[in-house]
This record gives sequence, structure tokens and C-alpha cells, in this order.
Amino acid sequence: MTGTGNQAGRLLPPRHIAIIMDGNGRWAAKRGLPRTAGHKAGAENFRKIATYCKNIGVKYLTVYAFSTENWKRSETEVAAIMALLKRYLLEAVDTMERDHIRLHFFGDMTPVSPELQALARETDEITEHLSPDDFQANVCLNYGGRDEIVRAARQFAEDCAAGKRRPGELDEAVFSSYLDSAGIPDPELIIRPSGELRLSNFLLWQSAYAEFYYTDTLWPDFGEAELDKAIAAYHSRDRRFGGVK
Ligand code: FPP
Repeated sequence: MTGTGNQAGRLLPPRHIAIIMDGNGRWAAKRGLPRTAGHKAGAENFRKIATYCKNIGVKYLTVYAFSTENWKRSETEVAAIMALLKRYLLEAVDTMERDHIRLHFFGDMTPVSPELQALARETDEITEHLSPDDFQANVCLNYGGRDEIVRAARQFAEDCAAGKRRPGELDEAVFSSYLDSAGIPDPELIIRPSGELRLSNFLLWQSAYAEFYYTDTLWPDFGEAELDKAIAAYHSRDRRFGGVK
């Protein structure tokens, strides 16, 4: 068991929860709606679940919004997801200071539109002024776990070539400091709704000792009660980190 209760009798949530927001397309198809309507509902659910995470004391929530492979989708679908992200960022610029919500992006932002890049820089600046103790949402955009590892390795090699680092210095802690998640503890719990049982290139390095929770519920329907269930399942796990109890 990993669980300890807080004073209100609620199980303490993991410090860092990561979610693959899957099933938006199927949610829309079940209602005879276009896939883009599913993403809209998914984005609304992200807001709801992020607020809930903040309220119950989760420190970090990391969500997979757009993978390095998602560019293969139709232009309309990609544009719709980017428009939802833009809308969310515009809202965030106005509200994150008031609500004490830090926002950070994981992923290679270079192919993303200059407008979204500028908004992401703006939210980064606001995040810098907020307390490190405030709740933080990490949004994975043009993110792939393999791509993140390759970018980190390339940067370390460049730092070695520039004389800033020596190859012998490389250990897990140094390598972690080159990842998009630098300074952020690994997620203890990774949730994938919609019935798919795979990681799909999400947080490959950071998931080494994460507990996984899968459910058939589609992401737009994944509510607070489902999150409570996932947290309860997490608390029932026997986490040994390779050791013996
Ligand atoms: C996976 O479901 C979902 C995506 C690839 C997009 C997720 C994006 C959002 C929820 C919108 C923007 C996010 C924020 C943070 C505002 P799928 O399309 O693969 O669903 P399917 O497997 O049922 O087809």
C-alpha cells in the first residue's frame, strides 16, 4: 500500500499525475458529431480535471495534448486542436495569476505556429512570477518521449563539444536536467482513458516507476469520480521500486 490519509480522511493524491487524453474522436462519433467536437469536449474536461487536481492537492498534472505523430491527422483536425490550445492559452494569460496556476509546455515548439509559440512564452513568463508551490499544469505539445530523449542527448553532446560538460559527468540526474521535465518529479500515476493499453510515446523516461491506470471511459466523460477511483487504485498498489518488502 502507498496510501496515507490526510486529516479530512481523503487519500493523499499523488504529487504528479499524467494523463493521455484519449477517446475524444470516439466520444464524438457516438454522438454523430465531428471529431473536432470531441476535442472541444476534451479541452473542457481538461479544465475541469485540472481544477479538481488543484483543489485536492495534486502539485503537477501533465497532459498529452498533441504528439509528434498527431501531424498525420487531417488538416482540419490539427487546426481544430491548435485553435483549442490557442483559446486555452489566451484564457490562461488572463487567469493563471489570479488562480495560481503555473503552466509549462513539454515538446518541441519549433513547428508550432509563431502565434502559439508567443503565447507559450507569455504563459512561461507568468509562471516564473508564480510561487514554485503553486499547482502546475504541463501540456505536451508536439511531444514525443523518444524525441524528448534525442533532443536532450543532442543538447548534452553540444554542451560537451562547447566544453561546458564532460561525457563522464553524465548520470541519470544530469540527463534528467536536459529533459522537458527538468526539475519536475516523475509522475507517480499515469492514466489512460478509452480502453487503449499502451503508452504511445508518452513520458518514456519519466514513467520508469509510474503506476498505470486504464479505464474504458472516454476522456470527455472522465470526471472527478473517475479520478478518485484512479487515485484509490494507485493507493492499493504495492510500490517496491525494484526492491523487496
Ligand atoms: C486523443 O483522442 C486526443 C488528442 C490527440 C487531442 C487532445 C487535445 C485536446 C483535448 C484539446 C486541447 C488541449 C488542451 C490542453 C486545451 P483521439 O482523437 O485519438 O480519440 P479517438 O482515439 O477516440 O479517435
